[in-house]
Amino acid sequence: PMPNTEKEKQLAAEASVKFVKDGMVVGLGTGSTAEFMIRQLGEKVANGLSMTGVPSSERTANLAQELGIPLTPLDKVDKLDLYIDGADEIDAQFNMIKGGGGALLREKILAYNSKFNVIIVDSSKKVESLGKFRLPLEVIPLAHKKVVDQLIQLGLNPILRKLDNSEYRTDENNFILDINISGQKNLKDLNTRLLEIPGVVETGLFLDYVNVLILGRAGDVEVTH
Ligand code: A5P
Repeated sequence: PMPNTEKEKQLAAEASVKFVKDGMVVGLGTGSTAEFMIRQLGEKVANGLSMTGVPSSERTANLAQELGIPLTPLDKVDKLDLYIDGADEIDAQFNMIKGGGGALLREKILAYNSKFNVIIVDSSKKVESLGKFRLPLEVIPLAHKKVVDQLIQLGLNPILRKLDNSEYRTDENNFILDINISGQKNLKDLNTRLLEIPGVVETGLFLDYVNVLILGRAGDVEVTH
């Protein structure tokens, strides 16, 4: 049988695709929860739903293509009608950490350029305050050691993300530094300070990005607007 978390992800994903209406341009998130959602959409498209997807990663683009979901680049559309994605952590104020799957930069670009954002999570993602999960930062490779020095001075304990012994590369060919933000009180200030370090391209802190949260819990979903 499916472990509970997987079931919760699936239930949240199922509830999210109900927001997709004929003719919409829909941003497609990245990660295991988003994957459930994309598979659902694929089924709907096979059954006659007309929609266009904008993928947040190469991984998502490949999956959508396999499922026959028509795709278009962001620059070919005005605004997304809807963006659906998962999260690594979400607090009571709907602040989020994203980027565990490495796609934070494109994800934030899509979420920012969407009229409406739906976040789908299993119950383990809901936290009192952010920071048990490390915050991913996308950084320019040539600057990464300098950025690391700055982050150490700020007490944020950066770790360079690796994949099979070499540096992990994002879709934009950048590196990721995962930092420890537990105990940080002012997330807005923190985000500003991080973005002020030259070489930091984007952070996985998503503040003020959620219109609807769909949380799978046990055999049900909680929907919060
Ligand atoms: C991808 O870069 C992330 O932002 C994902 O949305 C996040 O990591 C959640 O992934 P899961 O749905 O696999 O937990």
